[in-house]
Amino acid sequence: MIEQENKDRLEEPKFASVAVTGGAGFIGSNLLLRLVPKYPRVRFVNIDCLTYAANLSNLASIESAENYSFERVDIAESDTVRDCFARHDFDAVIHLAAESHVDRSIMGPRRFVETNVLGTFNLLESARAVMEEKPHFRFHHVSTDEVYGSLGETGYFTEESSYDPNSPYSASKAASDHLVNSYHVTYGLDTVITNCCNNYGPYQFPEKLIPLMVRNAVKRMKLPVYGDGSNVRDWLHVEDHCAGLEAVFNQGRPGETYVIGGNCEVANIDLVKQITAILQKSLESEPLDSLIEFVADRPGHDHRYAIDASKIRNELGWRPSYDFESGLQQTIAWYLDNEEWVENCVSGEYRSYYEQMYTNR
Ligand code: NAD
Ligand code: TYD
Repeated sequence: MIEQENKDRLEEPKFASVAVTGGAGFIGSNLLLRLVPKYPRVRFVNIDCLTYAANLSNLASIESAENYSFERVDIAESDTVRDCFARHDFDAVIHLAAESHVDRSIMGPRRFVETNVLGTFNLLESARAVMEEKPHFRFHHVSTDEVYGSLGETGYFTEESSYDPNSPYSASKAASDHLVNSYHVTYGLDTVITNCCNNYGPYQFPEKLIPLMVRNAVKRMKLPVYGDGSNVRDWLHVEDHCAGLEAVFNQGRPGETYVIGGNCEVANIDLVKQITAILQKSLESEPLDSLIEFVADRPGHDHRYAIDASKIRNELGWRPSYDFESGLQQTIAWYLDNEEWVENCVSGEYRSYYEQMYTNR
């Protein structure tokens, strides 16, 4: 029923043309792979400048679809964004493009401000210009629960939580959330914001915890756990996140925020041990736990994230479909089956980042 309503809404002419920024990244790829075949009457334009984190090959199965096209655009460049909007008759934006890795934001925050803050501002300005002709232009901003800072042992983030970001990454995402809200309040732009917990699944760049640990264990390299490994993250399969994005894009109320979470809290050290146990079984290998090494903690490392997703559940009927155990097994199997994809990601520019990051720890 809800699926049918989603479909009807997206097929309405007002969403006939949708810009998806960051569509060559982890979540953007998964989202386009979901939406492009599902909504053949909607044109999707992937706007991405192709940073180290991008991988257009993720989109091979849809690249020749009639309702899909790609524009290489740096959202931090206002003229380029404006020109791109002039070439297309967009009715909506789903904005995922961002610098997304906390450790990189600690090493070099400037690009995070340029892309996440200025880039979002440029998109908002282009949306505001379109709004003169299309008052129902929708701006869906995809954000993170990290904007709310760190939880102690108890409690959950909700839409009412105060902003309290700690890393340059989360501060830049918080700034962009505030800008998006301000365009709703000040100019009446039809915005929705989603703040999601940690995602896992296929196509995640292997500098993030789960794919990094899988690759390192396969290569018998050390498994670097920051601090004492007690930090807790709430994990959600990327396909469940994309289902939530689709629901909010189609049905979310203008000006509203929806937090999205998996109700699946795991301490980092327990997660790494789960990964090594699954790998040991699938590779029929020796125990891999001895590769675990506790390394210097991340500066300002948030202790715990956890989401109360009641609002999206009650208002939009969204629920995660994966349980973590089988989702993690499926994800690890995907990385084992796609070794070439992983090695392509980590060649070139990434290698120098990895060396800089881990030789001094
Ligand atoms: P990612 O790093 O895998 O992909 C980001 C994409 O944005 C890449 O394709 C990159 O080329 C593109 N990009 C970066 N800078 C750009 C620029 N200046 N102009 C145009 N394109 C640019 O990120 P992800 O994990 O897919 O995250 C997508 C969004 O979801 C981000 O906004 C992130 O803050 C948010 N988010 C991520 C998670 C998570 O666990 N990964 C959780 C919650 C929210
Ligand atoms: P990450 O995947 O970078 O996501 P985020 O920082 O956005 O939550 O990291 C997830 C958790 O894993 C975080 O608490 C930091 C920790 N971590 C490690 O312990 N070792 C690592 O090598 C990485 C990349 C992360």
